[in-house]
Amino acid sequence: MNFTNTLTRWYSINKRMMPWRLTKDPYKIWLSEIILQQTQIKQGLPYYEVFVKTFPTVFDLANSSEEKVLKLWQGLGYYSRARNLHFTAKRIASEFEGIFPNSYEQLLELKGIGDYTASAIASICFNEPSAVVDGNVYRVLSRYFGILTPINSSAGVKEFKSIAQKVLDRSNPGDHNQAIMEFGARQCKPNNPDCSVCPLHEGCYALKNEMTARLPIKIKKAKVKKKYFNYVVLVSNNEETVLEKRQGNGIWQNLYQFPLIESDRSLTMNTLKKHQKFKELIETENGKIKLFNDKDIIHKLSHQHLYTKFWIVEIDALAKKTIPLTSIRRYPVPILINNFIEEFWAN
Ligand code: ADE
Repeated sequence: MNFTNTLTRWYSINKRMMPWRLTKDPYKIWLSEIILQQTQIKQGLPYYEVFVKTFPTVFDLANSSEEKVLKLWQGLGYYSRARNLHFTAKRIASEFEGIFPNSYEQLLELKGIGDYTASAIASICFNEPSAVVDGNVYRVLSRYFGILTPINSSAGVKEFKSIAQKVLDRSNPGDHNQAIMEFGARQCKPNNPDCSVCPLHEGCYALKNEMTARLPIKIKKAKVKKKYFNYVVLVSNNEETVLEKRQGNGIWQNLYQFPLIESDRSLTMNTLKKHQKFKELIETENGKIKLFNDKDIIHKLSHQHLYTKFWIVEIDALAKKTIPLTSIRRYPVPILINNFIEEFWAN
């Protein structure tokens, strides 16, 4: 049996029952695929269920506030995906009367839909023979066919797309695409795959050449940057605090946070107190300051590591725009801050 037929057979036996596998509604497939780009199937499932329940149609999503979409997305990371999801829902609702474009080329025109998502929707919903290439697909193809081109080079991107397209089961592209991704996630795993039970072990280049652990090849990119984040958690006598909305194009755009003082080295209580922004926040001298976490919380993003301190400042009254502590959980916040809130206000 060849590569494609073996995969199809494997999938028919090992396929997990997932709600998005029971529909061809492009809206739901779009939601599931955007969520699944952020996380594994098991972790993505509850997010999918909440999104579909809260926004059963593209019109419901379009009519929502961006803040609500971000709140439901909280924890998945890469919040521009959620903002694009909302933006594109509004476009589909207003310009296309809620009807999704039905081809790869047209889907690609939509904000937040790239090669992967356009192929997934076109193949699953409209039976278009367009191959998906995600991290799982890179791994399966590089190992089985012995492709040594780096997956994050432009030559690699082209080469892998072309091979994926060649091995695609054109009679059933939607299932084939899901089969190869699922196979990568569950059988041809990144670390220590059990090749002895693999149905593709006979023709596998990596297994034969003992290269499984080295494939796929990825070029190392620039080193990650270290940043120091100091969140100032103001708590007033009458149980209020201050949150600010992140502006600009950086990470976590439009999410909320405690007032942030960023520095290029770790701050002590004394250096924090001397900081201009801190002085602006706390105009009186009588604030009681306490460091919440003795050891920095290190939040790892793809290009930067955030060494984070939460400073608790108890204060009589707050002059700034305040919010009651009882409503703090309504705001979309980065998971780093959400974890702090859950720990600090555990009860
Ligand atoms: N990863 C992302 N989308 C997937 C799907 N539809 N099936 C299997 N794995 C996936």
